[in-house]
Amino acid sequence: MATDTPVRSPKALATTKRWASPGSRSAALFAEAQRVMPGGNSRTTVYLAPYPPYAATGEGCWITDVEGDRRLDCLNNYTALIHGHAHPAIVEAATRRLAQGASFPLPTPEEIELASLICDRLSSAERVRFTNSGSEAVMMAIKGARAWTGRPKIAKFEGAYHGSYDYAEVSLGSSPDNWGSLAAPASISYSRGTPPAVLDDVIVLPFNHAEVAVARIEREAKSLAAVLVDPIPNRVGLMPARREFLEALREVTRAHGIALVLDEVIAFRVGYHGAQGVFGVTPDMTTLGKIIGGGLPVGAVAGRADVMAVFDPTGGHPAAPHGGTFNANPVTMAAGLAAMRLMTPEAYAKLDELGAKLRASLAECFKRVGVPGAVTGLGSLFRVHPTDRELIDYRSTRPTPEEAERLRRLIMRLMEHGVLMSVTGLGCLSTPMGDAELEGLIETFAAVLEMERGPA
Ligand SMILES: Cc1ncc(COP(=O)(O)O)c(C=O)c1O
Repeated sequence: MATDTPVRSPKALATTKRWASPGSRSAALFAEAQRVMPGGNSRTTVYLAPYPPYAATGEGCWITDVEGDRRLDCLNNYTALIHGHAHPAIVEAATRRLAQGASFPLPTPEEIELASLICDRLSSAERVRFTNSGSEAVMMAIKGARAWTGRPKIAKFEGAYHGSYDYAEVSLGSSPDNWGSLAAPASISYSRGTPPAVLDDVIVLPFNHAEVAVARIEREAKSLAAVLVDPIPNRVGLMPARREFLEALREVTRAHGIALVLDEVIAFRVGYHGAQGVFGVTPDMTTLGKIIGGGLPVGAVAGRADVMAVFDPTGGHPAAPHGGTFNANPVTMAAGLAAMRLMTPEAYAKLDELGAKLRASLAECFKRVGVPGAVTGLGSLFRVHPTDRELIDYRSTRPTPEEAERLRRLIMRLMEHGVLMSVTGLGCLSTPMGDAELEGLIETFAAVLEMERGPA
């Protein structure tokens, strides 16, 4: 379904910069926010210097800010909204369930329906447990893997983001001055005060380097509970994993009784059978979040029955007890079900087609305008890079300070001209988008690239 909103032509490039003027409503709200929240902020990811525009409403693929300026939403709450904003079926499902009670100290039927849908779509999933965020899902998968194996350590990939659990954060922000060798990347803390024991218990591996990763996993195998991998990690440049790389991880983890945990919190968006369907890998556990909640807070761990049995309370104290006041709350479950039922194979095919077209067109814009740049991604996901060099892993995709500044300028110009993306270059599509929105986006992108190049 495409919106009937007219798309702006670059000749009349939309100007959406009212938020940036000192007397704006956003400026006033930010000043107020600073009095009651550290840095006026409750989510580091959405901070934008010197302050962000405040959102008022969302409709389909558009967001209107509190100044009344509208932007094409190419971020969709960091990939969580696959149907954009306020889809009538999701609004109806969530409000109907809300009117019947928001949460209970008892299970509700909806959780069984969403768990069944996930088991039907993911070939590796026989059992599911719900959490309230992707971070919690990753935390529970790690705790579950420790309980299943009786081992303490995990391995994860340099630069990969898996939420805010201490162990999952290790080496998220590694830099050339501390990252060590590619064969044995250093375990670097992300938050000050991280206990040294956390760093000792996380083995860091280089993404997309199968031989090196396997060698390190084999060396540590006796103490490894899990290998945690996102097959298309955003912070590793949104580089899709090489097929042989995932196959090698599957083989070595199976051989040593280590749980392979596939983080599909974002990646589930790339196909009806998830990223595991696209990449042909069968993990022991999968972490989910974002789109499965229909826009409400959510997470889930899905996996093989014998692994997931660590959470089973029916025989007494489980190996890995898992509580959570709002786990599987029926409003989220109802919204998630409505959202996921709309995601038919045809809906994925349409998003794939738009995504491929967009990535090719944006890459073409860089070439045509003569500004260094590349575009990565898969399915409905894309990421722009302010560089021409070969992109493989975290070290090659991490922008230099000069590149990061160029990217920030580009994204801010898009923000000032009717397009919302992440300052990291991440973007994604939603089902309300059609060819008209895509063309408008590409024209705006080319126009702001021209600004970067300056007068010929
Ligand atoms: C791959 C991945 N895992 C986990 C998370 C954490 O999810 P949440 O923000 O819901 O805690 C994210 C969030 O962006 C993510 O991208």
